[in-house]
Amino acid sequence: MHAMLNIAIRAARNAGKIVTQAYAQLDKVETTTKGANDYVTNVDKAAEKSIIDTIHNAFPDHSIIAEESGLNQGKDDEYQWVVDPLDGTTNFIKGIPHFSISIALRIRGKTEHAVVYDPLRNELFAASRGKGAQLNGYRLRVSKAKDLDGTIIGTGFPFKRKHYMESYLGMFSAIFAECGDVRRAGSAALDLVYVAAGRLDGFFELNLKPWDIAAGELIAREAGAIVTDFSGNTEYYQSGNIVCANPKVLKSMLAKIRPHLNDALKS
Ligand code: IPD
Ligand code: CA
Ligand code: CA
Repeated sequence: MHAMLNIAIRAARNAGKIVTQAYAQLDKVETTTKGANDYVTNVDKAAEKSIIDTIHNAFPDHSIIAEESGLNQGKDDEYQWVVDPLDGTTNFIKGIPHFSISIALRIRGKTEHAVVYDPLRNELFAASRGKGAQLNGYRLRVSKAKDLDGTIIGTGFPFKRKHYMESYLGMFSAIFAECGDVRRAGSAALDLVYVAAGRLDGFFELNLKPWDIAAGELIAREAGAIVTDFSGNTEYYQSGNIVCANPKVLKSMLAKIRPHLNDALKS
C-alpha cells in the first residue's frame, strides 16, 4: 500500500476514535451554529486537529484544506489534502449513528488517494487512483443495474439552500417516479462510497463542498462509477452538483435531472 494512503488511513482511524468516544457521551458535546441549518461541534474541531497533526507529522510541507480551519498552506502546494473531519454532523448531534471521516490527497489537482471511514461500523473505504477501491481490504464494485427500475438512489436535500427547492424537487420527482426508492442518509461521503459498494445504485446532490466529495468520488470511480455534474460534464468538484452511478444508471439519472436545471445548476 502507498505510504500516503497509509497516513490517510492512520489519520482517519485516529479521528474515528475521537468521534466515537464523544458519541458515547453526546450530552457533553458543544454545538455552535455556522449558518442556516449548519452546525459545528468541538468534536469536528478536535477530529480535524488530530487529522492535520497526523498528516503534518508525516508530510510537514504538504498543504491541507479542511472544512473547519480552511486552507493550511504548506511549502509544497502540489500536494493538497482535502479533509472533512466529520461528515454527517447533524446525524452525530442528533445521535443518529451514520457519519464518517473523509480524507483525500490531491496531487497537482488530481485525487490520488482517498479514505472514507465509518467509525461506528468500523468500515474503511479506500482507493488509490488506478488501483481499484476496497472496503476493509475487499474489492468494491458498483451495482449492475441497467436503468432506474428497482434501484435505490441516495440523495441529499438542499437544506442550506432552500431557494433550490423547486429545481431539486423537480429532479427528485422525476427520479423517484422511476426508481425503486430513495434514501437520504445524511453523509455525502458515505453516500458516494455506498455507490462504490453497490449498496446504492446511484447518488445525486447539489452544492456540496470539495471536502464532502473529494475522497468518495475517487473511491466510487475506482469501483466503476462515473461521476459528473448535472449536465453530464466534469465540473462537479467546482460546482458541488454531483451525480454518481454506474454508466447506465447515470445516463437515466441525467435524463431526469436535465429538464429541471436553471442556469446556476447547469454545471
Ligand atoms: C453534510 C453531509 C450531508 C449533506 C450536506 C453536507 P457535514 O456535511 O454530507 O449529507 O447533505 O450538504 O454539508 O456538514 O455534516 O460535514
Ligand atoms: Ca461534509
Ligand atoms: Ca463536516
